Amino acid sequence: MNPFSFATTAQLICEPGASRRLAALCREREARSVLIVTDPGITRFGLLDGVLPGFQSEGMAVAVYDQVLADPPESVVLAAVEQARARRADLVVGFGGGSSMDVAKLVALLAHPDGTQLLHDVYGVGNARGRRLPLIQVPTTAGTGSEVTPIAIVTTGETTKMGVVSPLLLPDLALLDADLTLGLPAPVTAATGIDAMVHAIEAYTSALKKNPMSDLLAREALRLLAGNLEEAVHNGGNREARQAMLLGACLAGQAFANAPVAAVHALAYPLGGHFHIPHGLSNALVLPHVLRFNVGVATTHYGELAPIVLGERLRRGDPASYAEQLIEEFEQLSARVGLPTRLRDAGVPEHMLPKLASEAMLQQRLLVNNPREVTEADALAIYRAAY
Ligand SMILES: NC(=O)c1ccc[n+]([C@@H]2O[C@H](COP(=O)([O-])OP(=O)(O)OC[C@H]3O[C@@H](n4cnc5c(N)ncnc54)[C@H](O)[C@@H]3O)[C@@H](O)[C@H]2O)c1
Ligand SMILES: [Fe+2]
Repeated sequence: MNPFSFATTAQLICEPGASRRLAALCREREARSVLIVTDPGITRFGLLDGVLPGFQSEGMAVAVYDQVLADPPESVVLAAVEQARARRADLVVGFGGGSSMDVAKLVALLAHPDGTQLLHDVYGVGNARGRRLPLIQVPTTAGTGSEVTPIAIVTTGETTKMGVVSPLLLPDLALLDADLTLGLPAPVTAATGIDAMVHAIEAYTSALKKNPMSDLLAREALRLLAGNLEEAVHNGGNREARQAMLLGACLAGQAFANAPVAAVHALAYPLGGHFHIPHGLSNALVLPHVLRFNVGVATTHYGELAPIVLGERLRRGDPASYAEQLIEEFEQLSARVGLPTRLRDAGVPEHMLPKLASEAMLQQRLLVNNPREVTEADALAIYRAAY
């Protein structure tokens, strides 16, 4: 067995309705002034309505920063840090999708009273120093797994993103409450759910850090996600399916936090950057084509995942046939959950494909994890196939 290391969020609460106990959970951590970081949609949908009264009962100061934008720019991080400082926040809650949770991580780090680092100092791997404020994450999409990853992603320019990767960003508590996701719109459920499935698949084939823990988490994540995605999309009020999706996304997050994602994400990022295609949809658009590109070297692994994803629909065969069935399943899944399946249908002009391919090459941090080497010509061929 290859040596490996595994790290994750210290505590997980997986319980419908648990977010109503958020204030008490902050109290347990001796908080006196809490900042909740979220986005305007979350407050508009009233998702905090069941949460905020608890702070009054606990006699605890609470403030809400609700100006997070999808694919958060630096200005959002800086404004949230400013508010945390002004409120002397001593605990930070990320409440929302990956965008809100990523901002919350950076606020917990940069607003610590002893902190001296600026946002620019911490980009990259292992550059964050010192301590952070206690951090609780409450995901409202079943997608990114940010509640259990040591990663925060920030949009730094018009089209570019940078990551902060540090064990300091691993939250203290992830609270998975399906009640918060009952009203998640079908297209967001579909896209974020496929993002989570990609995390599991790419962790399972991760070239350098795949390990027995990430494998076990990836398999169980895929079982939960594949078994519940369509129900969650078509019958969003199904609490059981929603809770299973939240747990599946969380387990997939634990897998890829320790066995990182690869070419699907590398090719998805430029799509998000240029065309503001949501992260999950960008992944869904390139996924079957990357699987097909990889299959020659990933036959065994894809073959192992096929029975988990297809269940009783799997036709008996050899590993190559299983791998082929897995790819066919992902060729069809997007349409079944109502997502566009081709780049041309997602507003991508054909003449941009070479530029996208050249930008995908910048994601070497991810590409090194792909089971098969990806050249710029390969990336272009994959985009063309996806077009
Ligand atoms: N940290 C990580 O490990 C990691 C991993 C993958 C992606 N990301 C980042 O996460 C971000 C994407 O996150 P996301 O896909 O979760 O989407 P998001 O956080 O950008 O939210 C998307 C939209 O969904 C809405 N929404 C969220 N929950 C809702 C609910 N329960 N009901 C109704 N509407 C709801 C929000 O208001 C928002 O408009 C990107 O910035 C991406 O780079 C981070
Ligand atoms: Fe992702």
